[in-house]
Amino acid sequence: MTTTLPGLARRLDSIESSAIRDLLALTARDDVISLAGGLPATELIPVDRVREAAHAVLGESSSVQYGETSGWRRLREVVAALQSSVIGRAVDTSEVVITHGSQQALTLVAQALVDPGAVVVVDEPAYTGALQVFSIAGAEIHAIPIGDSGMDTVELERRLAAGLRPALVHTVSNFHNPRGVTMSESGRRHLAALAEQYGFWILEDDPYGEIWFDTPPPAPIASYSDRVVRLSSASKILAPALRVGWMVAPKPVCDAVELLKQGADLCGSSMTQQMAAEMLSDTDWLATHLIALRAEYGRRATALRTALDSAFGDRLSVSPADGGMFVWASFDDGTDTTILLPRALEQGVAFVPGRAFAESAAYAGSARMCFASSSAPILREAVSRLKAAHALS
Ligand SMILES: Cc1ncc(COP(=O)(O)O)c(C=O)c1O
Repeated sequence: MTTTLPGLARRLDSIESSAIRDLLALTARDDVISLAGGLPATELIPVDRVREAAHAVLGESSSVQYGETSGWRRLREVVAALQSSVIGRAVDTSEVVITHGSQQALTLVAQALVDPGAVVVVDEPAYTGALQVFSIAGAEIHAIPIGDSGMDTVELERRLAAGLRPALVHTVSNFHNPRGVTMSESGRRHLAALAEQYGFWILEDDPYGEIWFDTPPPAPIASYSDRVVRLSSASKILAPALRVGWMVAPKPVCDAVELLKQGADLCGSSMTQQMAAEMLSDTDWLATHLIALRAEYGRRATALRTALDSAFGDRLSVSPADGGMFVWASFDDGTDTTILLPRALEQGVAFVPGRAFAESAAYAGSARMCFASSSAPILREAVSRLKAAHALS
């Protein structure tokens, strides 16, 4: 947002509105198939189980009362148990803070660990919600390219050896938003070793790790170092409207985040945190639900990749889709996706141009496409509209 209004704080001067949020407004037309948003499929949100959980928690008066700033204790215990098995060590409840979605955790962690002017390393292309947070925090942002196995930690090491001193390195380790890829096990070990050697924090942002199709991703970066703040969320596996995310971090970081959260919102919603605890602790139901979610998202991912492949062949390379919600598609015939977008909208399909995720012109030919929100036939129709738009360009 560039503003000319007098009286607004200077921190707003350098902040751009998220291109994706702006675009979502344009793509809300009924006649547009949107591959642009990052929304989980509404029809796969377990509404009946959510209703049951709501009914159960409303029987307790504590669900309509203020709660602890660090989160509903039972939910912290449930998250600690789930994360213990993912990380491979016993996570204590005191190492867990519940936040208003993992987006709030990003904001609070940036406030806790990043002074204005400090260096923050991000992926390139990056999750735009993280870019916004770090720019509001006044960080100096350095982008490290990501390839087919996540952040290029060899390039990061080269820059560290040349004097780069980040306070924090942010990465989306599993089924990257927007790039679709997963960081390799060796990359995770390397990044963890660099954090120990150079004394920076790793912010492991992992809302998609449970949405794998054939094989689960490697152990989290948090398995290899204590200098990791690990974020995840109920948004993509249960419902985004719960606004329940969580952070696992060393206790001093949790204490700092709790202090900042007191100022931000006093506490999260007791009601939705209790609902999340109810659903996440119903392990048989959760396992069945995740199996169904993975199977349907897997089918959608295959449908989109297959349709793109038969429509564009060698002119478009599409990232693998082993999980998550996105593919990253790159034209190598000189197509500029920012120029293609208005034509695509005329044909009734939307995507996010690569330039929205990075300063670099290197991504001008790329686009992020979300396969999660549309069924396979709709995805095929979206690709035929995209083909028509491309033929006009
Ligand atoms: C990488 C990443 N991190 C964090 C978030 C924030 O999610 P939420 O606040 O709903 O948990 C998103 C949302 O799409 C995301 O893609």
